[in-house]
Amino acid sequence: MKEINNQQAESQNVKYWDEIAPIHYESYDIESLRQGKSHIDEIQQRELYPIQDKTLLHLQCHIGTDTLSLARDGATVTGIDFSEKSIEVANQLKKELNIPATFIHSNVYDLKDQLNEQFDIVYTSQGVLSWLKDLQQWAATIAHFLKEGGTFYIMEIHPTYYIFETNAQQEMQIQYPYFHQKHPTFWDDDIGDYSARDYVPQNKTYEWTWSMSDIINALIQNGLKIEFINEYDKLFYKGLEGMVQDKKGWWFHPKYQGMIPFTFTLKATKN
Ligand SMILES: C[S@@+](CC[C@H](N)C(=O)[O-])C[C@H]1O[C@@H](n2cnc3c(N)ncnc32)[C@H](O)[C@@H]1O
Repeated sequence: MKEINNQQAESQNVKYWDEIAPIHYESYDIESLRQGKSHIDEIQQRELYPIQDKTLLHLQCHIGTDTLSLARDGATVTGIDFSEKSIEVANQLKKELNIPATFIHSNVYDLKDQLNEQFDIVYTSQGVLSWLKDLQQWAATIAHFLKEGGTFYIMEIHPTYYIFETNAQQEMQIQYPYFHQKHPTFWDDDIGDYSARDYVPQNKTYEWTWSMSDIINALIQNGLKIEFINEYDKLFYKGLEGMVQDKKGWWFHPKYQGMIPFTFTLKATKN
């Protein structure tokens, strides 16, 4: 593992996300958006909706596919991301699909300098927390941007998922620590991208490990009241060798179905 300070790690990650944003414009399912569909799955719809006429802040919106889906489903949306290229692609998509949305190029941690508004909903999902260097500041940002009585909602990869690798027999083996480490993990492998499988990113990344208690306590300590936490044995992408996809697009590991949580959702309110 290469040791580096959090600021340097974050700057390296920006390079990676800038590199991958135009690639994701090709590999994310933009066609279904063109056909008028929403990318928000049935779990999120059941747990978060209705969002009609609600103002919604989407943290770490990437190329805006989910943000624009949330707008299509009725919310007035603002998406923010620290990758300038991601925001460029999001604005391009917004124009192409003719969906109203505001996109802001900003780090989550600097957003107070750029945005002076409070929202009914703060939303974030699917591949966000491992990129964050500080969960206390993240939760403080969420609390800051929520109106009194507003809702925070997250659907995210479960912290338990990150401890596993699969071996040649496609058995899951514990490989990584569950608990937060002093330094982020450096990923310098030559594995294809999670969405564009044939594309091996040039820029390598650093990721932070956060346990379930780190996530929940950060929210509670910043004044949010947890309404529910749910856990699911499926994932939105093929995260491990041996996973298979069901008709709705979720990825399961047949050997471990019903045994290990891969995704969690959480809803909290600001009172
Ligand atoms: C996996 S993507 C977002 C997930 C989204 N569901 C998607 O796939 O479109 C993670 C995003 O987080 C952004 N990001 C990471 N750290 C950030 C930070 N500190 N502030 C703002 N954006 C950040 C990256 O630029 C990237 O676009």
